[in-house]
Amino acid sequence: MNTEQTRKRLVIGNWKMHGLLAANASLLDGLHKGASAAPGCDLAVCVPFPYLDQARTGLQGSVVSWGAQDVSKHEQGAFTGEVSAAMLADFDCQWALVGHSERRTLHGETDQLVADKAIAALSAGLTPVVCVGETLAEQEAGQTEHIIARQLAPVLALGAQQVGRMVLAYEPVWAIGTGRTATPEQAQAVHAYIRSQLNGLGVPEVRVLYGGSVKASNAASLFAMPDIDGALVGGASLVVEEFLRIAAA
Ligand code: PGA
Repeated sequence: MNTEQTRKRLVIGNWKMHGLLAANASLLDGLHKGASAAPGCDLAVCVPFPYLDQARTGLQGSVVSWGAQDVSKHEQGAFTGEVSAAMLADFDCQWALVGHSERRTLHGETDQLVADKAIAALSAGLTPVVCVGETLAEQEAGQTEHIIARQLAPVLALGAQQVGRMVLAYEPVWAIGTGRTATPEQAQAVHAYIRSQLNGLGVPEVRVLYGGSVKASNAASLFAMPDIDGALVGGASLVVEEFLRIAAA
């Protein structure tokens, strides 16, 4: 079986901490109206928590799904400021990003915590999008595979049944928000490594997205790579036309 053909492309917008009600409304409206232009592709946006209900209202009945940018590992309880997976499911979220490099770096999230969050998301019926990626210093030191392996270890330890229900995203930290994209060949090399890990676990069908300064102008060459199944898009997801052009690439 050619699993590459069975992996439908997935493009997820990560709005990060951008947007207010009015700007979101026009973005969501544009997505609702324009998304059918990219029929070969699953399309989603991960919005800030307060706007989940707005995303649900604005995207209901469209082909675009929605999700959150983080999730608590806890089910419920005295965890001030945290948002549980059940709460996300309550807003019909399909996705939860976990382990984005900004969470790992700015909020001290460990590899184990990221795996715990992935399990919490799965338990509530969400698909976790587990992000991994090395820093510039690590890349320059030739540590990329070592870092990815370390970040993935507690996730892969969850076993094929769980990992088979996830999406992974390779986001080299040096390419996020910097305008500096990995070349398609550079990205493919890391994706092939991640694929070998997934193959080893018996889940070759898991989608592996690329993220880091993805734009309409570079999306097609990235998507042409055999192990790149889509993109996690930050800045360019805030502009409807640009985001839809990436999805159509
Ligand atoms: P960027 O962000 O597309 O703005 O580089 C990607 C991400 O952090 O998910």
